[in-house]
Amino acid sequence: MNIKNTKELIEEEGKYLIQTYKQPEMVLDRGEGTKVWDIEGKMYYDFIGGIAVNSLGYCHPGIVEAIHKQSEKLIHCSNLFYNAPQILLARELVNNSCGDRVFFGNSGAEANEAAIKLAVKYFKEQGKEKFKIIYMKDSFHGRTIATLAATGKYKYQKDYLSLLPAFKQAIFNDLDSIKDAYDENVAAVLVEPVQGEGGINIATVEFMEGLREFCDSKGILLIFDEIQCGLGRTGKMFAYQNYNIEPDMLTLAKPLGGGLPLGALIAKEKIASAYKPGDHGTTFGGNPVACAAALAFLEVLEEDGLLAECQKKSKYFQKNLELLKTNYPGLIKEIRVIGLMVGLELEKDGLVVVKKMLDEGILINCTAGNVLRFLPPLIVQEKEIDYLVNALDKIFKEIK
Ligand SMILES: Cc1ncc(COP(=O)(O)O)c(C=O)c1O
Repeated sequence: MNIKNTKELIEEEGKYLIQTYKQPEMVLDRGEGTKVWDIEGKMYYDFIGGIAVNSLGYCHPGIVEAIHKQSEKLIHCSNLFYNAPQILLARELVNNSCGDRVFFGNSGAEANEAAIKLAVKYFKEQGKEKFKIIYMKDSFHGRTIATLAATGKYKYQKDYLSLLPAFKQAIFNDLDSIKDAYDENVAAVLVEPVQGEGGINIATVEFMEGLREFCDSKGILLIFDEIQCGLGRTGKMFAYQNYNIEPDMLTLAKPLGGGLPLGALIAKEKIASAYKPGDHGTTFGGNPVACAAALAFLEVLEEDGLLAECQKKSKYFQKNLELLKTNYPGLIKEIRVIGLMVGLELEKDGLVVVKKMLDEGILINCTAGNVLRFLPPLIVQEKEIDYLVNALDKIFKEIK
């Protein structure tokens, strides 16, 4: 049965998919640049970019070509054998970051799992029993068991508490809380330089420098989850470059594979060498097609000067939101911006705005209950930002 109609398709979805998502009543069909169309032909400007994945927009020709070329040669070979795109991508990531070696998985959660296991293994090699991770309230690191244990949202953890390792929660941007959470079994501190799901909460310089100093003083590891905030999103290649410090390990995913599933753990040599052949692995991770797409993504990022573009658009976006805020002081609580990670905290629930934006032909999302989150492609145009801000203005007039 060839079903083309939105209503029928959504009915089928209700019958056949495990119901883990809440989705609006439209079915996406195709995209180009910052625009995406549903199957009924309605166009939307995408200001959530597949949750920070589509940094080059939809179907960037460089990514499409790389996928096409590689898929004609070799789609999959497993990690029983070498493949060139994986090796070349690892070299590129190492040459551009503070790390020395890379492990590839297929998602953000897997990259974080690899980092958590490696932290424990690193100390095991030294004969030390360190197996706890300090994580932050309102963090998000994934939905697997270990990454869920490090995700500071009780609503996600509550049904699985008996399965979760005993990680320790601290407060983001509060160094004293890290010191309080520390005990001799702690192996690492895991932190997002910018909390995405938590509501675009930006780590302060003081916190990050203090964290580095604290981890060094205790001989424990500092892991940055840059899955949402890395690879150009903050206007720097890596979010840690906004601070005067380096992490011991760094995790990436989302935009890395240009839309294909790909995650990466980057670690300093002395830590990476704790993993020996057989200690960790995956069937698909570092798949040649995903790695070829990632190489194309990194090339476009550099050649098109997208870091500078991101910084420029960020300022423009912020300026326009600040102007909007002056008109709605009782409605807009705070604006938080770093690069093209933008959070607009409302005094009320944000879902109603998300729904109304959809009617205006704009995709956004609401996180942490009342934070409108914007993660547009780095290629977003100023006139598209104007369109978004005008739509917000119209909706705020209605709901204030
Ligand atoms: C900061 C951060 N870490 C980890 C993850 C998990 O990534 P994935 O959904 O690819 O497993 C996410 C996903 O939103 C994230 O934002």
